[in-house]
Amino acid sequence: MGIRSPTGLLCLMLLIQLGLGLGEAATVSNGTTDGKERWGYVEIRPKANLFWWFYQSSQRVSTPEHPWPTILWLQGGPGESGIGSGNFQGIGPLDVDLKPRNPTWLQKADLIFVDNPVGVGYSYVEDESALVKTDLEAAADLTELLKALVKELPTLQSSPLFLVGESYGGKLAAVTGVSVARAIHAGTLKITLGGVVLGDSWISPDDHALSYPWLLKDVSRLDDNAVSKAIMMAVTVKQQMVYGQFAAAYKTWVDLLDLIDAKSGNINMENFMVDNTVSSAVLSYLVTRPLSAAATDGPNTISGILNGVIEQKLRIIPNNITWQAVSLQVFDALTNDFMKPAINEVDELLSYGVNVTVYQVQLDVICSTLGTEAWVKRLKWEGLHNFLSLPRKPLHYCHPYYLTNGFVRSYKNLHFYWILGAGHSVPVDKPCTALYMIGSIVQSPAS
Ligand SMILES: *[C@@H]1O[C@H](CO)[C@@H](O)[C@H](O)[C@H]1NC(C)=O
Ligand SMILES: *[C@@H]1O[C@H](CO)[C@@H](O)[C@H](O)[C@H]1NC(C)=O
Ligand SMILES: *[C@@H]1O[C@H](CO)[C@@H](O)[C@H](O)[C@H]1NC(C)=O
Repeated sequence: MGIRSPTGLLCLMLLIQLGLGLGEAATVSNGTTDGKERWGYVEIRPKANLFWWFYQSSQRVSTPEHPWPTILWLQGGPGESGIGSGNFQGIGPLDVDLKPRNPTWLQKADLIFVDNPVGVGYSYVEDESALVKTDLEAAADLTELLKALVKELPTLQSSPLFLVGESYGGKLAAVTGVSVARAIHAGTLKITLGGVVLGDSWISPDDHALSYPWLLKDVSRLDDNAVSKAIMMAVTVKQQMVYGQFAAAYKTWVDLLDLIDAKSGNINMENFMVDNTVSSAVLSYLVTRPLSAAATDGPNTISGILNGVIEQKLRIIPNNITWQAVSLQVFDALTNDFMKPAINEVDELLSYGVNVTVYQVQLDVICSTLGTEAWVKRLKWEGLHNFLSLPRKPLHYCHPYYLTNGFVRSYKNLHFYWILGAGHSVPVDKPCTALYMIGSIVQSPAS
């Protein structure tokens, strides 16, 4: 089976050498015969191979005045698999039982998933030193990936590309957006950047940390004594960040989460209406989806299909790769950047005229709406004052239509959606609202 045989591996190595010889990233790809799906590896740096998967929508209609959009989905963590959580457990055409998902974001746009940063999921490094240590390096890798994808996917040249990330993926979307905008400006990347979408994003860790005590007090999960302690710790996080002590700030933030866990009766940081019934291990906050909407009721497990039928379908996954939902190695390699904010990157995007959309859910704690509103107010963008003074428009996207699903406010190229009743991930918790919201954000002709 292709690459799995010894000859296949040899071909792969030859391809890689040829690719490097031409000064271009080596690629290996395959797809379905109808051309609706394509996937592959791009060696974005020596010994660093990113895996991507493209789906073309069957609803695709495109005119020059109203082009069909493409979404590049960036998963959080850092270290969570976009192919697993994003595609099969989130917004892709099939769920974990390989049954059609309704709704899927494919109804509104073409979709690209990537196991990112390199080392996550099917992506792999041949040497641990090739893991990324900064958000900037991750952004440079994604920009290389897009340069290769422009050649692999002909539709990409006439389709506005939206970088959509949730949680840590939102921070990566902001940093990558700047890298992509600069590459387009320099003429080294020939695509249209439709926009950057920051869903419950980890843009400003200190603003989030400072919001936890107030938010949790308001919903009766912390008492005054715990709030005072939590505020002191959050202020320490902020001070350490000011001094550029990001590793120390990370430790303090972890202690803050432990305090909250102990004093709140194990609240789930991704949804304050739910308890975290598992352990207090801090990483589990970042990487689990205890809200079982993402889980499957059927016989399949995500790791079962991705190391089984899906791996067989893809044909090009090297034998020695075992897909995992989360890569702790990738997370660890990025620890020193974890607490680094990306507000300046959002400002830079706004100054370039790039459409920036922020969406926030009501019930999230970890990347709270309070924290996000706080960093938005600190933007240097000239349109900020007007943006803040505009009224919000209520959204009535889904049945029953008399209920309010959320609110939106737009001024020039900044757009902010407040989504009600959802925890950390909108597509998982409120799939219908998420579908209409994304259709509107990417200006889908299918809207
Ligand atoms: C995928 O790979 C298989 C086996 O290597 C090959 O026969 C097939 O033509 C490829 N399909 C596409 C669409 O590239
Ligand atoms: C998988 O095997 C190939 C060939 O033996 C080797 O070059 C590569 O480093 C291995 N990859 C991993 C992730 O172990
Ligand atoms: C930004 O989005 C608006 C719609 O919300 C659209 O009319 C405009 O053309 C977009 N601007 C850019 C530069 O993509």
